[in-house]
Amino acid sequence: MLILGGATQAVNSFAGDVRDGLGKAGQKELPSKYLYDDIGSALFEAITRLPEYGLTRAEERILLEHSEAIAEHLTAHGMAVELGSGSGRKTRQILEALARHKSMTYCPIEISSVALASCERELDDLAHVSILGFETEYLDGLSKAVALRKPGDAVVVLFLGSSIGNFDRGPAEEFLRKIRQTIEPGDTLLLGTDLEKPLAQLIPAYDDSLGVTEAFNRNLLARINRELRGDFDLSRFEHVALYNARERRIEMHLRSVETQTVTIEEACFTLGSDETIWTESCHKYGRNEPEEMAERAGFKCVAQWVDVEWPFAENLFVAV
Ligand code: AVI
Repeated sequence: MLILGGATQAVNSFAGDVRDGLGKAGQKELPSKYLYDDIGSALFEAITRLPEYGLTRAEERILLEHSEAIAEHLTAHGMAVELGSGSGRKTRQILEALARHKSMTYCPIEISSVALASCERELDDLAHVSILGFETEYLDGLSKAVALRKPGDAVVVLFLGSSIGNFDRGPAEEFLRKIRQTIEPGDTLLLGTDLEKPLAQLIPAYDDSLGVTEAFNRNLLARINRELRGDFDLSRFEHVALYNARERRIEMHLRSVETQTVTIEEACFTLGSDETIWTESCHKYGRNEPEEMAERAGFKCVAQWVDVEWPFAENLFVAV
């Protein structure tokens, strides 16, 4: 695989975002994108294999069963651009099905070089698929990839795993609109969305018995210690996964078990006992919501496949 771009995430913006997020007067927060350094990406990969986290297996079942049907909609497509490929495991079925119709260029876009490398290892053997990876942010990678499309080839953007759910609802729609503005009419977006489900199923998915999600969450503090000379004592923070019913989302927080002061690059931040740092939101959707989101963002939802065991929908949007 050829990898273009190189690491562009400036330490300065990480430091600035941490300073802003911990310096907030109200709820302290850290942007969830910083959960995914190389260690965080490996921990997330482990999460996808946990018995309690059914989301990834639900999507894999859908893609295993319906990739041929999905590819029937995409016979003119010669390029697949995946936003956040992770290990690439979930993408194999769909790429195989697409490449039966037409040779494909597959462009995984990732901010983790480790995830990009493992994606290459996973998919390198696919026939009629050439891989061109971009180590950069999603929209930057998408515009660079589509600029390389061959004349006459349509592009399918893959945004799988319900990563859209990690945006707040307004910014999620804004992000879909930006994808739409970057591609052409007739291009498509395959969008994975995790659906609303009983709390007894949902909460353990984000608070597993082995403590992998807890480690994934706390790694953000460890990353600040590693990269920004922070002095977080990880044993003084607890992982919290709660369901916000009004917003229909899981929220991950790190709760300070006592009043404490942390220092990051000479700046001090005080956390009260039980005060939390909000680290991630995972929004859940009604079954008809993706179709409505598509229309507001300049797409038409032409098909939807749903897993019944773990309510999850794969949605196919066409750019209009
Ligand atoms: C990447 N994303 C779709 C995951 C989710 O379920 O929202 C992130 C995650 N956070 C904790 N567990 C999984």
